Amino acid sequence: MKTFDEIIGERRSVRHYDPAKPVSREMIETLIKTAIEAPSWKNKQTSRYYVVTTPEMREKLKETLWHQNQLTVKDAPVLIVTTFVKGIVGFEKDGSASNELGDGWGIYDLGLHNAFLLLKATDLGLDSIVLGLRDADAIRSLLEVPENEVIVSVIGIGYRSEDSIRPRRKEVSDIAKFF
Ligand SMILES: Cc1cc2nc3c(=O)[nH]c(=O)nc-3n(C[C@H](O)[C@H](O)[C@H](O)COP(=O)(O)O)c2cc1C
Repeated sequence: MKTFDEIIGERRSVRHYDPAKPVSREMIETLIKTAIEAPSWKNKQTSRYYVVTTPEMREKLKETLWHQNQLTVKDAPVLIVTTFVKGIVGFEKDGSASNELGDGWGIYDLGLHNAFLLLKATDLGLDSIVLGLRDADAIRSLLEVPENEVIVSVIGIGYRSEDSIRPRRKEVSDIAKFF
């Protein structure tokens, strides 16, 4: 069993996948079950996942990605479109925004869910990549994502065929102030 620090250290954005290694549905469900354990605004759990595994649908979904991202996930056996239901998290019962961030809180919660999902993937020996450069309108029509959901990232899941280098990280002193 991996320690928490091993999981954090091993997770990398992987841009080369092994086409010969499929990922079981059970594993994908485990990833999503782990995401569900993330904290969320008033426990609203507005994150949604569209899991694409068939070759035909994967090809169509890849066409909605920025050209470099298409190459990145060309052999990834699983692509997951991540969305959240808008107008709930960050809003009061009367529909008014709770504060200046509005639907920003929905993206916040989805990011938390996705972080849990990515770390569980590492725990299971899987690799992943988050893709932000995609055509949301094309994804909406392909997967029939309802208009009340905001399409955010596409996550590729699979097993690496090439290692990734660890991009340089900032120091604590670069990003934190202590009072
Ligand atoms: C919100 C978000 C969007 C990203 N979009 C892309 C993308 O479109 N294409 C890509 O190759 N990597 C993308 N990445 C991966 C980042 O480049 C990567 O996480 C960063 O360079 C740090 O590397 P590491 O994940 O290996 O630690 C994205 C990551 C995040 C969190």
